[in-house]
Amino acid sequence: MTDQTPHANRVWTVLKFGGTSVAKPENWAVIAKLAKARLKQDKPGGKVLIVHSALSGVSNRLEALPDLALKGDVSPEIAAIKAVHLDFAESALLDGATLLAEPFEILDRLAAGIALVREASPRVRAELLALGEQMASRLGMERLRQEGLSPVFLDARDALKAASDSADPSGYLSNSVIDGADPELQAQLGHAELVLTQGFIARNSRDETVLLGRGGSDTSAAYFANKLEAKKLEIWTDVPGLFSADPRLTEGARLLQALSYDEAQEIATMGGKVLHPRCIGPARRANVPVEVRSTLRPDLAGTLITAKPGDDAPQLKAVSVKSGVRIVAMEGAGMWRQAGFLADVFACFKECGVSVDLVSTSETNVTVSLDPDPSLDQARLDALRARLERFCRVKIMDDGAAVSLVGYGVRRILHKLAPALEMFQDKPIRLVSQAANDLNFTVVVDASEGRALAARLHEELIAPAPAGPVFGPSWAELNETASSTPARPDPWWVTKREQLIEIAPQTGGRYVYDRDTIKARAAAVANIKSVNRAFYAMKANPHPEVLKTIFEAGLGFECVSPGELMRLKDTFPDLDPKKVLFTPNFAARHEYAAAIQLGTNLTIDGLHPLVEWPELFKGAEVILRINPDRPRGHHQHVQTAGPKAKFGIPLDQLDAAREAADKAGATVIGLHAHAGSGVVEAGHWREIGAILARAAEDFSDIRILNVGGGLGVPESAEAPALDLALVDAELAKLKQALPDYEIWMEPGRYPVAESGVLLSAVTQVKHAFGTRFIGLGTGMNSLIRPALYGARHEIVNLSRYDADGTGMASIVGPICESADLLGADRLMPDTTEGDVIAIAEAGAYGAVMSSRYNLREPADEVVI
Ligand code: LLP
Repeated sequence: MTDQTPHANRVWTVLKFGGTSVAKPENWAVIAKLAKARLKQDKPGGKVLIVHSALSGVSNRLEALPDLALKGDVSPEIAAIKAVHLDFAESALLDGATLLAEPFEILDRLAAGIALVREASPRVRAELLALGEQMASRLGMERLRQEGLSPVFLDARDALKAASDSADPSGYLSNSVIDGADPELQAQLGHAELVLTQGFIARNSRDETVLLGRGGSDTSAAYFANKLEAKKLEIWTDVPGLFSADPRLTEGARLLQALSYDEAQEIATMGGKVLHPRCIGPARRANVPVEVRSTLRPDLAGTLITAKPGDDAPQLKAVSVKSGVRIVAMEGAGMWRQAGFLADVFACFKECGVSVDLVSTSETNVTVSLDPDPSLDQARLDALRARLERFCRVKIMDDGAAVSLVGYGVRRILHKLAPALEMFQDKPIRLVSQAANDLNFTVVVDASEGRALAARLHEELIAPAPAGPVFGPSWAELNETASSTPARPDPWWVTKREQLIEIAPQTGGRYVYDRDTIKARAAAVANIKSVNRAFYAMKANPHPEVLKTIFEAGLGFECVSPGELMRLKDTFPDLDPKKVLFTPNFAARHEYAAAIQLGTNLTIDGLHPLVEWPELFKGAEVILRINPDRPRGHHQHVQTAGPKAKFGIPLDQLDAAREAADKAGATVIGLHAHAGSGVVEAGHWREIGAILARAAEDFSDIRILNVGGGLGVPESAEAPALDLALVDAELAKLKQALPDYEIWMEPGRYPVAESGVLLSAVTQVKHAFGTRFIGLGTGMNSLIRPALYGARHEIVNLSRYDADGTGMASIVGPICESADLLGADRLMPDTTEGDVIAIAEAGAYGAVMSSRYNLREPADEVVI
């Protein structure tokens, strides 16, 4: 590209924002600020193009929609997709229904069409998926205007023409774009200062929408940067740049501050996920520097990718690990020196459409690895094997992990690998490959060893490198400085582990609850200032000692059954009934009668009781539970709102409910909604409150808005934790607008989840098909959450808490069900029979949901 525009004359900066960066209205304030700063700094003449993705999670849902539509009714899923956007609009004070009417209608029609013709062609899938970006654009344009900017909208499809008109699935779902300076586009946007466009989508010459493959927004941004000959492409994401290892697995992973295009390409290709590998080419061809930065930490410079790396010395930059790698080993001593042998075997791969990643050869063996490819099924593998067997003996292994070292001159540091590879003295290394460009050295090992090996190589080869132009701070260091809030302290079960080991059972399981933790969490709930009354949803854990601890913190109780009411009566014989809130669902008549007799607060969640048993409610004060049509929660099974939910009164039946209550002589004193369980967005309860307040306008005696429970706890140390101070701040806004209402809340999980661990001793260890199984004395009979919801609980070997992880393991119980899996793919130390294993965050919905399946007694319970 000799006639490229010189850098000094370039005017465009392209900013790309991914799903999490655009998902919340407040994030657009950051986007607007960044755009303004670029415009100001490049005055006069500087221009900014913003490329954005769909709101986070939306593309996944749209991608899954066609298959759901082929199976059955997708109206709840469509409602959920719309709700994501409507919630955004509502929080931004925008009229979402009007703004999004058009894409919503297309969404409805496409889904109905798929259901009708019982077929979802790639073309239709592309149209459907492209809606995610289109819906987000409409919201984004409005948010930028609210921030005082005047963006010009560009439909990305008008600018990006697909390179291929193929009618194959790949033509619609994973196309590419012909790049090269585009004077026409440059002229078209000549008068605009700020342009907003979408990632991921383009158009073919038949005027059809096509997609650029998943992760395609990075690629789109790179195409735009290429066509506009941008001075810079900034990829804004939720991590501060590319790292020397996956920071979720390696805390010591270092921020890579300067990389060459080659290195970045290699790291992105090796599974680095932060940046899509396809975006490097277009940027490189137009010589556009690429910067990867974090919207959460805009103060950090991130990673700068240019033709010239920051440091020319040969230097290892990163260690990556890719799982799900298949190995094909071909043995054939006799044939070896025959001319054309390799051509013959590789022809077999070609004929079967199987793409080879790494190759290694020896005198008697050729081994190749295949990239993970979900479309590569057993039939194709069998066909490949049959063809290859005409030339050699064939062995196919399914479960490999490729661990790669990446950096210029990687060859020169190979001698340093020996200590890390020592762990393979007794274990096989399946394949070793050194790339011809000397940028990459890879070993393929068993899946269970991959992460441990990568961690070890990183520890020995990269972690000690001094800070400089290439290596920045580590992930752990960045997180220490990330916020004023201190790093999360060790959980109680770490500090009390000696005691736990002592009381762990030798057989079966035991739940242990820590009273101090319950006290602290219950007090935190009681301290939410904008909440007038909090009721503990005792279904989460009705253990009498737990109830007492929570009562002392000042909470009341929410119950759902006569059994729970009895438990309260037994535990607190003199309990004031007004401290109790009875919220049954599809309960029989006598249960309501009993609650009224007892004088508890009462929530009614359907028309039936009021219409069919009016005499029960004469003179009673009642709260009505509505269905806010906002499904929320950590899993579909715990979502209690939306068109499929059996809970609550739909908003369009609320008039009828009011009339029925009037007729019965009952007074409606409150409205209630609970949308689901395990919510970590702090604004959720304010949103629910706002919906309730709107509904309350049609009633005359309402003084209570019960915003429900559902407060989530993190499933791992890295997962975001719900900040109760933020929940409070959000609710305070509601309170300020509606000072006459009392706000009630009813959390179950939050006060107790982290207080509990399930302890059990290891019964057996098994190695099979590359997986290490660690068996415990109890399983889904004590803790059904992983089987039922795919819930993740932290699992640790308490007996060897300080030992390093040596490989991955699946932790299983003794129940005759394959779902009896408490945790898969966990990094565990060497573990032996009798070790005490703790399963954390098990204080909520653990013991109370246990069973005697297989006639194995579930874990007993102890409070310490
Ligand atoms: N209020 C109502 C009306 C509820 O139905 C529930 C929970 C709560 C409050 C308390 O929700 P929490 O704050 O605990 O999220 N077994 C599932 C959870 C089911 C929750 C059922 N209803 C799990 O293990 O995740």
